[in-house]
Amino acid sequence: MISKASAPGKVILFGEHFVVYGIKAILCAIDKRVTVSSKKIKDKEIRIRSNIGQLIIKPNTALDKIDSVLKPFYYLADKFLSKHNSDEGIEIIVESDIPLGVGLGSSSACCVAGAGSIAKLFEDISKEDILELAIKAEKTIFENTSGADCTVCTYGGIMAYQKNKGFEKIEYKPEFQLVIANSNAVHSTDEVVSKVKKFKKDNEEEFLNLCKMEEKLIEESLSQIKENKIESLGQNMLKNQNYLQTIGVSNKTLEDMIETAKKTSFGAKITGAGGGGCIFALTDKNNLEQTISAFTNSKYECFSVNIDYKGLDTF
Ligand code: PMV
Repeated sequence: MISKASAPGKVILFGEHFVVYGIKAILCAIDKRVTVSSKKIKDKEIRIRSNIGQLIIKPNTALDKIDSVLKPFYYLADKFLSKHNSDEGIEIIVESDIPLGVGLGSSSACCVAGAGSIAKLFEDISKEDILELAIKAEKTIFENTSGADCTVCTYGGIMAYQKNKGFEKIEYKPEFQLVIANSNAVHSTDEVVSKVKKFKKDNEEEFLNLCKMEEKLIEESLSQIKENKIESLGQNMLKNQNYLQTIGVSNKTLEDMIETAKKTSFGAKITGAGGGGCIFALTDKNNLEQTISAFTNSKYECFSVNIDYKGLDTF
């Protein structure tokens, strides 16, 4: 039996980094996916193959002995083999159309699709339990994850997410379009999150103030999404970008890309950790093509995405 699951990537519309400190964030799943297929094999081995490499390892290996971005898959496979006292192994194939390490949620989508695919080889499992497993798997490579990314990759659509409080899905389907431009500089979420931790430590009062401003911006933006006020939403994205610049997660390349995107769109900002990765611009059907064209002669890959309303899919 082959058990397959797929999960979407994501864009953080508002609130990355501040979400780690308990502020609400607004996230949106996008129509780029990771698909994971797994099957039991006779050899007592966990074999993971993906377009970024492979990992073949014996069950019961200590996690701190594994230095690979594929570690979350190993964690999940080993967990189920030992829970079910299995003397078999598992082969896992990962196929992704989400660029890696650029703020589009590829590792979270891998954890969610991986948890769904591997768990269903052994048992029936709810989406809630798959999400819990996916967050634990993501923590093997990124200990301080807020859990926001895995949550939106599991449930899809647009949502407000708050660490330790959960999420609220926004059922309204807005009419905006997102244009993503990739700086092609891979970032390490862990490193950028540590940098923000240091900024907070050195600038407690300023950080607290930024958190308050971000909180206000998020509440305002939630109403704007529900009222389809795209122009004001774009202005708020630019404000959020300023806060991200203040905490030191932006850079000249990303800011130049935002300037380019700003000329034709309603607003643009980083998505995800920053320090590299992607920016995205808010458009509607009238300025979508123009915004993509603004990047045609640049070295940055640029594409539009739609909102994914499905989230995790198992088949
Ligand atoms: O860059 P990404 O896709 O890993 O997103 C990170 C988002 C942060 O808010 C910076 C961290 C988190 O766990 O929420």
